[in-house]
Amino acid sequence: MTDNQKNSIVKKYGQPQEIRAFIDYSKKGLEAYEKTVFARMIKDDDVVLDLGCGAGREAHAVAALCSKVYALDLVHGMLRSAKGFVTENNVYFIRADATYLPVRDNSVDVVLMAKQFMNHITVSQRRMITMNEVYRVLKPGGRVYLTVHNDLFNIGTAHLLNGVYKIMHANPDPRKLTRPHGSGDRGADLGSLLVGFFLLRPKSIIVNAYRRIASKVIKEYTGKEAGDWEISRVSDAFSPFKSPYHNFTVKEISSLAFNAGFRIDEMRDIWELSGKRTLPEFLRKGAFTMALVLQKD
Ligand SMILES: C[S@@+](CC[C@H](N)C(=O)[O-])C[C@H]1O[C@@H](n2cnc3c(N)ncnc32)[C@H](O)[C@@H]1O
Repeated sequence: MTDNQKNSIVKKYGQPQEIRAFIDYSKKGLEAYEKTVFARMIKDDDVVLDLGCGAGREAHAVAALCSKVYALDLVHGMLRSAKGFVTENNVYFIRADATYLPVRDNSVDVVLMAKQFMNHITVSQRRMITMNEVYRVLKPGGRVYLTVHNDLFNIGTAHLLNGVYKIMHANPDPRKLTRPHGSGDRGADLGSLLVGFFLLRPKSIIVNAYRRIASKVIKEYTGKEAGDWEISRVSDAFSPFKSPYHNFTVKEISSLAFNAGFRIDEMRDIWELSGKRTLPEFLRKGAFTMALVLQKD
């Protein structure tokens, strides 16, 4: 990882409002889809390595499911908060860059790269190095869970699809509601839809749609790989700092897994904002997050 890339991640995720947002998010616990997958893939005596652990959300939740968790992050402030949040004594924290893991070969049963960790690794060679590292530290039979944002993702689409979702699932009894399910307030839901509409970046959507044929030209003229952009807002925090971000195509994420030596056990679109409810098929196709389970044979 170059110093510039490292600095932008540290600046962005080290700022107080970003850390606070991740502490709040950690308190909400696992998403419904994460609960299902983790319960299936993590066993009592497993050693789990959590890459990009943030404020400790998944480390805290999976500690009870396994024998040991190593929770790793690049950002000191995130790790400090995680240490305050995670009370289980089988969780150990490591400050390191996930591109070079300070972990022994064949020593880990499960690697988690939850909440789009991989999107933060820009430059394709670095993603390959990271995936090779994950393969190296896993025992044979070891498993990986990761989610990545695909071409459809930007903050505008998130708002737009969330607005559509909320309107479709408006709950008539507001007392029973927890975000991000339908608020029951059609005005607010419509607001989210409109925010999404105006935040949609037609330029990035066109570039993304076009990338399969134009990626070489984009690289030549901008120096960026197709799918590269900068994100200024992750979680619920607005950030003055941008960090590099890479959106994946299906082919790209599957090649990355195959080239590192993994078998893909599962790959599906997930609707991040939906919690427990299921969206109609036509909207699920518009999901911008892909969840994968990989296996080292
Ligand atoms: C979107 S947050 C996810 C936090 C946590 N997994 C969660 O779901 O709440 C991404 C995290 O990855 C960390 N990160 C990004 N690049 C990293 C790298 N190269 N090595 C280690 N951590 C990194 C960031 O500091 C940040 O805490």
